[in-house]
Amino acid sequence: MKLIVANWKCNPSTLSEAKSLFNEVKKRIEEIYSKKNLNSEIVICPPFIYLSELQSSTYRFYLGAQDCFWEEKGAFTGEISPLMLRKLGCHYVILGHSERRRYLKETNQMIAKKIVAALKFRLRPILCIGETLEERKQEKTAYILKTQLRESLELVISYKLSVSNLVIAYEPVWAIGTGNNCSVDEAMTSLMFIKRQLLNLYPKKNPNKIKILYGGSVNSKNAKEYINVGFDGLLIGGASLKSREFIKIIHFIQS
Ligand code: PGA
Repeated sequence: MKLIVANWKCNPSTLSEAKSLFNEVKKRIEEIYSKKNLNSEIVICPPFIYLSELQSSTYRFYLGAQDCFWEEKGAFTGEISPLMLRKLGCHYVILGHSERRRYLKETNQMIAKKIVAALKFRLRPILCIGETLEERKQEKTAYILKTQLRESLELVISYKLSVSNLVIAYEPVWAIGTGNNCSVDEAMTSLMFIKRQLLNLYPKKNPNKIKILYGGSVNSKNAKEYINVGFDGLLIGGASLKSREFIKIIHFIQS
């Protein structure tokens, strides 16, 4: 089962646009179901304020959030808790996206707490990791991926939580929103490295259950290549805001 996640980021600017994009995608997914079995799970992650307006009861078509806080409730101005998201019908939550690391100074330690909180309320965390261009040039990619994985999963490991609901998204920062997607060979090197790290972190569990996605300038022309080299799915930003392009990607993954 492949996992295709749409990260709408801070888009679109009105509820009516969000509804029409969502309904368009939903309609096309229902059409695909009616013809053949969908071999993917589709997740739409809109801005928080649209979540309650975009409910889905369509099979394998889920809602996700783009972040959550680590506490269930309390005096935390501006925050949204995983419990609230779960009660709204969310199944997934993106955590540690590079834009949050960069603009909001999120650290691996904060992300680690969010992952534990998400799992507690049965939200599937999508942990984003990836190196910047600078780090890649300095040949620090392996070090960055290893550190992000180890530190972000530290609490999951020490609390001995199940890993079967965990999703990792490899998103090289330099490939996000640039049109400059990571070559399939380079992406595959990172995929293999991440798999090895997960085996080191979870020697006794079965880390093969953890889905690993690719993200960064995915479009209908390159999407299938990442699946062909072994990624379990995709995290899609820009291309998920154009319903036709997004549906094309889903079709290609199906074929
Ligand atoms: P992009 O964004 O597809 O626009 O590069 C991906 C992401 O940031 O998750």
